[in-house]
Amino acid sequence: MGLLDRINNGSTAGVASLRPPIPEMEEQAEPREAPSDLPLLRQAPAEEAAPLDLNVRRMNLGAGKRNDPFRYIRERVQTQLLRESNRYLKLDDREAVMAQIVTMLDDALAQEGVQPARVDYMRILDSIQYEVLGYGPIQILLDDETVTEVMVNGYDQVVVERFGKLHVTDVTFDDESHVMRVIDKIVSPLGRRVDESSPMVDARLPDGSRVNAIIPPLSLIGPVLTVRRFPRQPLQAEDLIRLGSLTRDMSDFLTAAVRARLNIVVSGGTGSGKTTLLNVLSSFIPDNERIVTVEDAAELQLVQRHVITLESRPPNIDGKGQVGIRDLVRNTLRMRPDRIIVGECRAGEALDMLQAMNTGHDGSLTTAHANSPRDVLARLETMVLMAGMDLPIRAIRDQMAKAINLIVQQERMQDGTRKVTAVAEVQGMEGDVLILQNLFEFEQTGYEGGKVVGDYKSTGIRPKCYDQFQAHGVNLPLSVFGRVLLST
Ligand SMILES: Nc1ncnc2c1ncn2[C@@H]1O[C@H](COP(=O)(O)OP(=O)(O)OP(=O)(O)O)[C@@H](O)[C@H]1O
Ligand SMILES: [Mg+2]
Repeated sequence: MGLLDRINNGSTAGVASLRPPIPEMEEQAEPREAPSDLPLLRQAPAEEAAPLDLNVRRMNLGAGKRNDPFRYIRERVQTQLLRESNRYLKLDDREAVMAQIVTMLDDALAQEGVQPARVDYMRILDSIQYEVLGYGPIQILLDDETVTEVMVNGYDQVVVERFGKLHVTDVTFDDESHVMRVIDKIVSPLGRRVDESSPMVDARLPDGSRVNAIIPPLSLIGPVLTVRRFPRQPLQAEDLIRLGSLTRDMSDFLTAAVRARLNIVVSGGTGSGKTTLLNVLSSFIPDNERIVTVEDAAELQLVQRHVITLESRPPNIDGKGQVGIRDLVRNTLRMRPDRIIVGECRAGEALDMLQAMNTGHDGSLTTAHANSPRDVLARLETMVLMAGMDLPIRAIRDQMAKAINLIVQQERMQDGTRKVTAVAEVQGMEGDVLILQNLFEFEQTGYEGGKVVGDYKSTGIRPKCYDQFQAHGVNLPLSVFGRVLLST
């Protein structure tokens, strides 16, 4: 058995598991749970954290580190290790590194004549290990499968999202430069850097997690790091049905809509599940089609054989070389795509997307930040204006009426769950006004025991796009739309 295994199995001087069992973390996190509604107030630093014991230490790796009597020992061993790694120690040989940490820590403690209690010894060991082999204090959170988002708000507050809800953890960093070191460790392998001259950066961890970092002077509370972790297996349509995010009828309808090449916009607020739903909708695209995806950071995980993934590029340090979403969307038109999927429309690319949808590239999918289907139309209008073409509003709306078939509204509910709250069809124009008709909607009737209560309803309207289903040979029973079948 290797040293690492022995330490993990708690059978050596190191003892105890380096990977905490998840339920214990939950238990420790709960008492510090923030009110589920944002804004979160910045809490006092974690100096008053509960006294360490074998269970508590697992959420307490960084707690009160500013007063950590062992900080100098930790830092001494870390520095020594990093020096060794330049000479002969390979950081990817975890076992050798662990052995080295134990030796160096024991030496340092002996030289200083310090004999920490066992829990403190383990805490120091864990913390050095996470520092050298992982992303410092937040590594323990990144290792926890139930954590979907890690938010570092300055050095003394780390918030996580679990099961859709936010919790303030006891994890802290030593100081701001400690956060900066971790940010640097994330972005430097990607050839990026973050400093005063480029204080914002998007990146990804090797496991695909999405990372954003923003530092002073732009952030007034110190360096801020946001990591969105994705489930190892992306959520599928069946998962969304099981989680109550939509009904089987809605899923069947959306499958038919994608197969019948309708143009669909997924709309929702931040973190509402737009990208996840876009991924699910994309999974309905037949396997023989050529799909080109365009994203800022490639998050979609398509399973089809013929997928081309394009990612935009920020400007380099001299401010040159930027390739935006809009440039990429234009380029896709010359790539003979059967489908164009744009991760998110934020600006002028909306115009290119509408034009593509209207000129033979139907079946395109995208998302946009908006709070309702009506709102997304207004947002798209503004985005088209951002393209700088000075188009009359009437012409823009006309394009939207012809291009967009469906808007699927996604929301993060009060209880942390995500739901499709409306599926609306764009039915055309009346005068200058775009006509929207809800086909399905979620009606919340209450909030009981911390859970949102409500029903999904089909509005009983036969969608205009139904004829398009038939034209594409897509069969969908009319019963999906409810019993009342009003023809519009
Ligand atoms: N239907 C769902 N049920 C439960 N969790 C979900 C659901 N959809 C998405 N999630 C989770 O919610 C988080 C946010 O999802 P996603 O990245 O899709 O949101 P988004 O709206 O694209 O966010 P952003 O605006 O930041 O791009 C992820 O952790 C994801 O796994
Ligand atoms: Mg997204």
